[in-house]
Amino acid sequence: MAEELIIASTADKKERYATLLPQIAALVSDEPDFIANLSNIAAALKQTMNFFWVGFYLVKENQLVLGPFQGPIACTRINFGKGVCGTSWKEKKTILVPNVDAFPGHIACSSASKSEIVLPAFKHNEVSLVLDVDSDRLNDFDETDQLALEKLMRIIETILP
Ligand code: SME
Repeated sequence: MAEELIIASTADKKERYATLLPQIAALVSDEPDFIANLSNIAAALKQTMNFFWVGFYLVKENQLVLGPFQGPIACTRINFGKGVCGTSWKEKKTILVPNVDAFPGHIACSSASKSEIVLPAFKHNEVSLVLDVDSDRLNDFDETDQLALEKLMRIIETILP
């Protein structure tokens, strides 16, 4: 396993993602344990993109349950269709929220969160987990984040148990 992450020395987030994604693909290809891999993915995202909160919620029976993450402590369980994460699960799509206060039913795990993006990963057309990224700044996510993080979800789909 590569033990040091190479982080592009640029403020351009497209380039930072472009340097990061192949390293994540390499990292997870060497390790069979799913939780170990999600843990390193959350850490790599935090280290590279300096997100306020980044982590996974795993579908377990009829709820999303908190998985590996980086950032302040968070809500442990989210119901289907609830909050941004539960909505991404229900609608089976990426949800980009420029201002969380304007999203009906947003679940405020931290009052510092201002904008958010949530992306699902699928197995047999069903959502297995969602990646949630929160920012303490308004309007902090855009198409660049969405495209890069959707590529990441496709990598994660290759290692789903
Ligand atoms: N805000 C999310 C809940 C998870 S935390 O932000 C870590 C939501 O509305 O689903």
